[in-house]
Amino acid sequence: MTNAIETRGLTKRYGARTVVDGLDLDVPEGVVAGLIGPNGAGKTTTLRMLLGLVRPDAGTGSVGGLPLTDPVAYLPRVGALIESPAFYPGLSGERNLAVQAALAGTDPAGIPALLERVGLGGRGRGPYQSYSLGMKQRLGIAAALLGDPALVVLDEPANGLDPAGIRDLRGIVRSIHDEGRTVLVSSHLLAEVQQVCDWLVVIGDGRRLYQGPARDLLAGGGDLEERYLAMFTKERS
Ligand SMILES: Nc1ncnc2c1ncn2[C@@H]1O[C@H](COP(=O)(O)OP(=O)(O)OP(=O)(O)O)[C@@H](O)[C@H]1O
Ligand SMILES: [Mg+2]
Repeated sequence: MTNAIETRGLTKRYGARTVVDGLDLDVPEGVVAGLIGPNGAGKTTTLRMLLGLVRPDAGTGSVGGLPLTDPVAYLPRVGALIESPAFYPGLSGERNLAVQAALAGTDPAGIPALLERVGLGGRGRGPYQSYSLGMKQRLGIAAALLGDPALVVLDEPANGLDPAGIRDLRGIVRSIHDEGRTVLVSSHLLAEVQQVCDWLVVIGDGRRLYQGPARDLLAGGGDLEERYLAMFTKERS
């Protein structure tokens, strides 16, 4: 089995601070993987390095079997939602997706169905600037699904979503997985993603604290949240 994502010693420093510290990632193809860690753990920085948005200071890696040093080669097969996505405020959600599809050279025919899928069916024609935070987040998820990505990277997709939205999101993530795509989703809450992930990577202070099948971490007994928090206490002591 090949890995959708693989890194060895992936490292990023900002000034004197090492924010991603020798990270070895192995995300098997076809899984829903969760990248979990508290605020500032280095999740977004790690995802940015995987997407060619931030240059690593050290380490190697591959995405879809292609080297991390050549994002132009692998990015056409990757869909991503990273922090606040850039949309035109005056254009509707639907037009924004059409613009992105045109830029990526992908078929815009699926856009209405995509809007439906993320729960924006009724609001796709309204201007982006009129959207609530949760609606903007949903449009970002739709944008990540444009084209036919083999890998979908979602950075904190649950941000700004209400409980019903978070439940919908789990359904969307499952459906992306059922289409045969690999999903990498970040969260600072294990509880938020544990139900949909079959692979988990936990990081703290830029270092890997756990990587492996979700069931192995979840089967440890006792209170999961306690054990999760204990990982970071051990890290600091
Ligand atoms: N451009 C930057 N310049 C300086 N420091 C940065 C930069 N980007 C990130 N950092 C620092 O790197 C560390 C990791 O940040 P990162 O955004 O990767 O964390 P995160 O795990 O995504 O956190 P959150 O859950 O809050 O989104 C933080 O200490 C942050 O301040
Ligand atoms: Mg982040």
